[in-house]
Amino acid sequence: MNVKIAKEAGFCFGVKRAMKMAWNELETNGDIYALGPIIHNKQAVSKYEEKGLKTVEIIDSIPNFKNMIIRSHGVGEKVYKDANEKQINVVDTTCPYVKKIHRIVKTYHDKGYEIIVIGDSKHPEVIGINGWCGDCAKIIKTLDDLDSIKFDNSKKHVVVAQTTINLELYNEIISKLDKKLDNIRFNNTICSATKVRQLSAKELSQEVDCMVVVGGKHSSNTQKLVNICRETVETFAIETKQDLNIDKLKEYQLIGITAGASTPDWIIEDVVEFIESI
Ligand code: F3S
Repeated sequence: MNVKIAKEAGFCFGVKRAMKMAWNELETNGDIYALGPIIHNKQAVSKYEEKGLKTVEIIDSIPNFKNMIIRSHGVGEKVYKDANEKQINVVDTTCPYVKKIHRIVKTYHDKGYEIIVIGDSKHPEVIGINGWCGDCAKIIKTLDDLDSIKFDNSKKHVVVAQTTINLELYNEIISKLDKKLDNIRFNNTICSATKVRQLSAKELSQEVDCMVVVGGKHSSNTQKLVNICRETVETFAIETKQDLNIDKLKEYQLIGITAGASTPDWIIEDVVEFIESI
């Protein structure tokens, strides 16, 4: 059976870097805590936990003097302060693009600007960003939020975006904000990795007979890839090779493969090898 893999699939630069840093740390020092699941992929989390990683939700659960991994999503300033007080050794795998947002938010907050974040207030990345301005950012997720949130036009505002939000939505929101507020600065901090992955999946789905999308059932970016591919061809969403329906796959000649941003290379390779062996 013939297989073609999307040009861009699986881990983005930031997640790849973070997972590598965490693995290296586990190799040299097995006793490490992660603040929140290191990635939204249960197979990858298990692999890291077998190696000694312990996942906790709050820093209070980590004993003093231990090692702690900060995920690629990043965290607020207080976590660094708490870690310092508890003399915890921090392995900071925050994506450099997210770090840049933290710097913008802190700099402008210190200068007295009001911070506006375009993103999802429940997403760990946004919670972390908000933690660089004393948790007082105005967080906009939808156009409707613009009516319910109160803005003070006598103040200066600065806008940043969650790295994974949709560019069209961002553009719509900033054009409304620009009309609403007189003194406002915009920083388009959206990362292109998600968009590039989606375009690659779309391109590939036009060349093949069916698509297999590998990724966590609860991963929203994986689901998005599934929907994009389904617009063109029959698409199968799987977490691992065990989920593949071999009889169905046999109906196709050329199979395209893509994967969500939290799917490790070894799971993708496993799927590719398996399909090629059918
Ligand atoms: Fe970083 Fe972009 Fe990935 S912000 S974690 S490279 S999606």
